Amino acid sequence: MARVNLQDVHKSFGKIEVIHGISCDIEDGEFIVLLGPSGCGKSTVLRMIAGLESVTSGEIFVGDTMVNQMEPADRDIAMVFQNYALYPHMSVFKNMAYGLKIRRMPKAEIEERVRRAAEILELTDYLDRKPRQLSGGQRQRVAMGRCIVREPKVFLFDEPLSNLDAKLRVQMRLELRNLHNKLKVTSIYVTHDQVEAMTLGDRLVVINEGCAEQIGSPLEVYEKPATVFVAGFIGSPAMNLFRVVVSEDGTRVMLPGGGILPLPERGCPEYRGKRVIIGLRPEHFSLAGEKDSTLDIAVNHVETLGADTLVHGLLNGESEMLTVRLSGIKSFAENQRLSLNFAPAHIHLFDPESEQRIVSGSGNEPQRAIIR
Ligand SMILES: Nc1ncnc2c1ncn2[C@@H]1O[C@H](COP(=O)(O)OP(=O)(O)O)[C@@H](O)[C@H]1O
Ligand SMILES: [Mg+2]
Repeated sequence: MARVNLQDVHKSFGKIEVIHGISCDIEDGEFIVLLGPSGCGKSTVLRMIAGLESVTSGEIFVGDTMVNQMEPADRDIAMVFQNYALYPHMSVFKNMAYGLKIRRMPKAEIEERVRRAAEILELTDYLDRKPRQLSGGQRQRVAMGRCIVREPKVFLFDEPLSNLDAKLRVQMRLELRNLHNKLKVTSIYVTHDQVEAMTLGDRLVVINEGCAEQIGSPLEVYEKPATVFVAGFIGSPAMNLFRVVVSEDGTRVMLPGGGILPLPERGCPEYRGKRVIIGLRPEHFSLAGEKDSTLDIAVNHVETLGADTLVHGLLNGESEMLTVRLSGIKSFAENQRLSLNFAPAHIHLFDPESEQRIVSGSGNEPQRAIIR
């Protein structure tokens, strides 16, 4: 096992820079997830760690060794790909043993390592089968087994579950996390799926266009998103984000269409009378009586999910669309006005130019908003 350390890593393909300086310290035994939309550079970062792409500038360390110039095979890293190409004519045992055999490991040791991995992966009864005689999930486990037997210092995963159907994906997610808890091998996992990221990662690196916008635990990233991008990317349905103006005394914001929302605690004195971007998560709204509500929406569209109801409506009847998540089954008519409250403690504010987080009330006791 080993720490992995990225120091100001850049990558250009020809004249185009796609990774703009990523630094990250991954601890020994940690499960870290690189999360971001398609094309943001996740695979490129992973491939640089594996040694499959050169590093344009910056340094990558595995343990205490700088590996920039090291061949992939010498890095003691195992990579699990999306397409877990197994050899169809070989048994499960041989598939798992193959990598060790070509490294000329003694037969008895190969046997022992494969048996141990098969036990961990619950594949012991399948060792004589061919891949076509296995389910998708079992094949995925064989692919994992091939990596485990090598006993690498680091595991790299590039969207390993994205070819599986939804149910299997959920099951494999749990299996991967359990496997990590057993093996405790430093793991770097790439995905564009935020649920996968939130459930698997000890920490997330949220990547946007080749930059790491935030590194933190799943909860930190949810509760204190560092940028507008992270705020909009983490959470489903997405956080409502719109431009507002802070009152002259810095304690409230004026909403589009005239509502007023009080800010938590000291407010936002640095931005008195200025524009900010406000972020309100759909799950932090609640229904209110007309008199003590802070805002209302004109219902546009309702999605009944069973456990929750999503309501999309126009904020204060104006042009801003707002999504609200209410627990349980609710039914509303189109254009019906809903009076709502929003707990100030859950307000997120961002600077409109830098798009960086300004203040966060998250974690404070929710207060009831009563000013209108
Ligand atoms: N071999 C390559 N040559 C040129 N551009 C590449 C190459 N590999 C990736 N890119 C570009 O780098 C960016 C990041 O790609 P990638 O790391 O695959 O993103 P992700 O894995 O997050 O979807 C994309 O714009 C992609 O087109
Ligand atoms: Mg990719």
